[in-house]
Amino acid sequence: MDDYSRRTNAAPSQPLPNGPLSTPCFVIFEENVRHNLRQTIAACGGVERLMPHVKTHRAPWIVELLLSQGVTAFKCATPAEVEMVLAANARQVTWAYPTVNSFNIHRFVDCARQYPDAVLTGMVDSERGLEVWRSELEDAPANVRLWVDLDPGLGRTGVQMDDSALKLARAVHRLGRFAGFHVYDGHIGGDRNERREKVLALAGKVGWLIDCLSAEKIECPVLAGGSYTFDLWPRHLTQFVSPGSWTFSSAQHDIELADLDWRPAAFVLATVISVHKNTATLDAGSKAISPDKPMTERFRWDGRILLMNEEHVIVESTDLRVGDRVLLMPQHACTTAYLYDSALVKTMSHGWEKRRQLGCAR
Ligand SMILES: Cc1ncc(COP(=O)(O)O)c(C=O)c1O
Repeated sequence: MDDYSRRTNAAPSQPLPNGPLSTPCFVIFEENVRHNLRQTIAACGGVERLMPHVKTHRAPWIVELLLSQGVTAFKCATPAEVEMVLAANARQVTWAYPTVNSFNIHRFVDCARQYPDAVLTGMVDSERGLEVWRSELEDAPANVRLWVDLDPGLGRTGVQMDDSALKLARAVHRLGRFAGFHVYDGHIGGDRNERREKVLALAGKVGWLIDCLSAEKIECPVLAGGSYTFDLWPRHLTQFVSPGSWTFSSAQHDIELADLDWRPAAFVLATVISVHKNTATLDAGSKAISPDKPMTERFRWDGRILLMNEEHVIVESTDLRVGDRVLLMPQHACTTAYLYDSALVKTMSHGWEKRRQLGCAR
């Protein structure tokens, strides 16, 4: 049975689970995930261009849902995500991490052996990294390929978008394993026009790299973008775009990407354990929600978030009562999902169902 009568901060129309339940609890509304998928496919210009990042949810049931709706390719951050996606029956998987750890590469190559009908694509951003991959790939099956990761100015990973990128691409091509260029531009923000201008400047550079390689008869697909840019990358240039956090969206998207009309789909259900003059204490502390954000901004709240300890948060409130349940909208859903190895899902048949997810397994 649902209880609509209690206060649900920033999610006033969402029903709350009302049975005996451990809190804090990760709660997902499947209908909103499906809505976000439809919006994202439309903004991509076709499901065949969408290679969603799965690190946002790390949930096998969401991979299965995406496959059933026509998604064919997936992006992952860790070997455990690669394994999860393959086990769910995906057959095109990118491991978007230019690792130089031979143990991890070994695990990836093992997956390729286990799933010979899948294509598994890793990533390199340096000659040194390629050396490590080269020795691991000596007797690897042909279904392992490599993107060359470009640095679009984020400064995190990626080779410079100049001759050094061409050199690395040629070296991977000589191995017979070149998949194309990967560009993740998570540093790009601002309003839509500002973002478009920045993406088009990058697209010019990527276009130059492609022209140089096609003059040498090297085919060069491109995989680019995240939630802030995927709909701005020119279609003729990018075979795939890879937004991820659209799946659950977030308090941040709700404001900054309102034009995409995504709906927040994942929340943390907390219980009010104590009330004081103008404050309430809930059981979703710093270990329960958006751990990568400043304490006072980890979820949307009508008043101030005053203090977070590991298992407590104190918020401004005049109307909450002890025992109330509250849905908190995370500022960052990806780092919240990762804290839970299962979620309570409001299904399309309007029931509540506990569904497994990877939690923090790597
Ligand atoms: C390499 C890579 N690709 C894609 C994404 C998805 O971007 P977003 O979270 O903006 O959807 C991320 C997110 O961090 C990423 O690191």
